[in-house]
Amino acid sequence: MAAIPPGAWLGLLGGGQLGRMFCMAAQSLGYKVVVLDPGSDSPAGSVADRHVAADYLDPRGLAELAAVARAATTEFENVPATALDYLARTARVTPAAASVAIAQDRISEKTFLAGHGFAVAPFAVLRSGADALGADLALLPGVVKSARFGYDGKGQARVRTRDDVRAAWDDMRGQPCVLERMIDLACEVSVIVARNEHGAAATWPAAENRHRDGILDVSIVPARVAPELAARARSIATGIADALDYRGVLCVEMFVARDGALLVNEIAPRPHNSGHYTIDACVTSQFEQQARVLAALPLGQTRQHTPAVMVNLLGDLWFADAAATTPREPAWQDVLRHPEAKLHLYGKAHPKRGRKMGHVTCLGATLADALATARSVKAALGIAGASEL
Ligand SMILES: Nc1ncnc2c1ncn2[C@@H]1O[C@H](COP(=O)(O)OP(=O)(O)O)[C@@H](O)[C@H]1O
Ligand SMILES: [Mg+2]
Repeated sequence: MAAIPPGAWLGLLGGGQLGRMFCMAAQSLGYKVVVLDPGSDSPAGSVADRHVAADYLDPRGLAELAAVARAATTEFENVPATALDYLARTARVTPAAASVAIAQDRISEKTFLAGHGFAVAPFAVLRSGADALGADLALLPGVVKSARFGYDGKGQARVRTRDDVRAAWDDMRGQPCVLERMIDLACEVSVIVARNEHGAAATWPAAENRHRDGILDVSIVPARVAPELAARARSIATGIADALDYRGVLCVEMFVARDGALLVNEIAPRPHNSGHYTIDACVTSQFEQQARVLAALPLGQTRQHTPAVMVNLLGDLWFADAAATTPREPAWQDVLRHPEAKLHLYGKAHPKRGRKMGHVTCLGATLADALATARSVKAALGIAGASEL
């Protein structure tokens, strides 16, 4: 496939922050971007060269995108596979609909991973109340997760007994689920990998991820794990991309168990929140790489040039306290006074608690410096957990 040169139009399904950062990276390379998203002032739609406000399955919207875009990608995994298949009739589409479909469903994802020899947490599929009541006791304590549409810890319940599993199953209203054994975690890491149509792959350093209330709170990069473990995490990510014959950018989230096991938690067929640090800390960002693979350009160098700590900015920051109902703008000067804190705001009009509104990447000559800045930024903005960093 010949490269699509700068100046051409690239298409994007989805209007969120991942799409916004893709647009900016692609535009910086000289591409024009058309975004298909139902929202009216979405983070990506507001920076795109053109915004088609239509549903992902709207034939008119898809046709409008197909008429201009030489190639198209997606910013989130829940875009219907049929939309990608439709676009693939006239445009180059990465990743392939089949790769996206595997990651849309925890059952197909875990079955695929285990079937290809990648270690995952022990799990069982629940398709009925009887499955729930008969759950394997070796999987308890555990977590019940809905097979589809879960994110940021939503659609999950912690369970200790078979009765808990049954109650969790009932709460899921008949949706297929997985029951996964609770892993005693030393830490969590993720690796972003990009792979092109020739099978060339490049990974970024492993990120160490801390979650709060099921939502990513900070990513510390490089992860503070043994070099051997970090190398293994990167090779697992490449192995998964190979097994999927993947084209595009993929994130692999992993558990590091206290007994030393490295288990694949989930995969995201797109750039990922834990890879935002690559914008400021690496030669090539995950978003530039997404554009490069889409346009059939050579992969960019993924080397990290500066230690980094990414701090997520959630909508909670816009509310002075738990009782507040009217949002107010956070004191950004507390972030901007740090010369090595890079503020990224997604332009979302309506802050909501738990909603990702932006992030700050704290850089430093050493990881200790970056952590110190992250602590200071967190404390100044009133984000919990500054002292735990
Ligand atoms: N089996 C498990 N053992 C221990 N912690 C878990 C397990 N499953 C999920 N978690 C915790 O919950 C977080 C969110 O779960 P995850 O499966 O990644 O769902 P989401 O789609 O919401 O990101 C994980 O990052 C981890 O902190
Ligand atoms: Mg996750």
